[in-house]
Formats: sequence, structure tokens, C-alpha cells
Amino acid sequence: TTQRTLILLKPDAVQRSLRGEILRRIEAKGYEITALAQRTATAEELAAHYAEHEGKPFYAPLVEYMGSAPLVAVVAEGEGVIEGFRSLAGSTNPTSAAPGTIRGDLGREWDLPVIQNLVHGSDSPESAAREIEIWFPGLA
Ligand code: CMP
Repeated sequence: TTQRTLILLKPDAVQRSLRGEILRRIEAKGYEITALAQRTATAEELAAHYAEHEGKPFYAPLVEYMGSAPLVAVVAEGEGVIEGFRSLAGSTNPTSAAPGTIRGDLGREWDLPVIQNLVHGSDSPESAAREIEIWFPGLA
């Protein structure tokens, strides 16, 4: 069945002008982009999006990083898109992410308290529904 996933092009992707490169990979894979918006995330959006990380040592730097500059929120659709986009993105740490993935090809580590890794993708259908409602409230 067709799925939807919520993707974020994080502030480091926007600042490095990698929007086109990342969106190109999503489209080249065959997924359809059905919603797209650039804005600076609010504290409320980030608290909701990262509720599961509250209390972790990187939570404050994570929220600071994600709210520091504009990001691009995207809804992508397709068969298997949730797992498929996470596969395109690569593993969390861009140093160890496989070449061929977004993080492996375009990311690197910096001496910072939070890992900056260019993109987010929902990890399950339940997360996708929850996250789409945060970033695109009321989207059917
Ligand atoms: P993501 O998996 O999209 O969502 C949680 C984010 O927290 C993750 O990307 C990284 O940006 C960051 N993160 C996760 N684990 C760590 C960690 N151990 N140290 C620093 N930052 C982390």
C-alpha cells in the first residue's frame, strides 16, 4: 500500500544549499513530493517532533540546531517510502553512513554537541502520521 512519510531537510542542508540535491534523490528514487514548506521551526513544533528525545544529553543542542535557521518540511508518498527514504538517508552518524546515501555522500562530523546529519525521515507509519500533523496540520 502507498505510504506517506515526513521528511525534514534540516538547517545544515538549507544553509549548504543542498535542497535541490536531496529533493532530486527523493524524486529520482520515484517517490512523489506532495507537500513542501520552508520555514524556521517554532519551539512548539520542535518539542512535539522530538518529544521522545527529551531528557537526553543532546536534546538542548538538537532543538537549538533545528531552530537556528530555516528548514524544509516535505511529505513524500510511495510504496515503501518510510523504509525507502531511511535507506536513502543512511545511518545517523554521517561519518559511518554508507557512501551512496544522503548522509554518507553529503554529510560529515563537526566538533559540535549534536550530530548534524542533513535530513530526518519518519521511522514508522505511526510516526509519519504524528509528524505530518505537526508540520502540516490538517493535511488530509
Ligand atoms: P535524527 O535521527 O533525525 O533525530 C534525532 C537527532 O538527534 C539525530 O538525527 C541527530 O541529529 C541527533 N543525535 C542522535 N543521537 C545523537 C548523539 N548520540 N549525539 C548527538 N546527537 C545525536
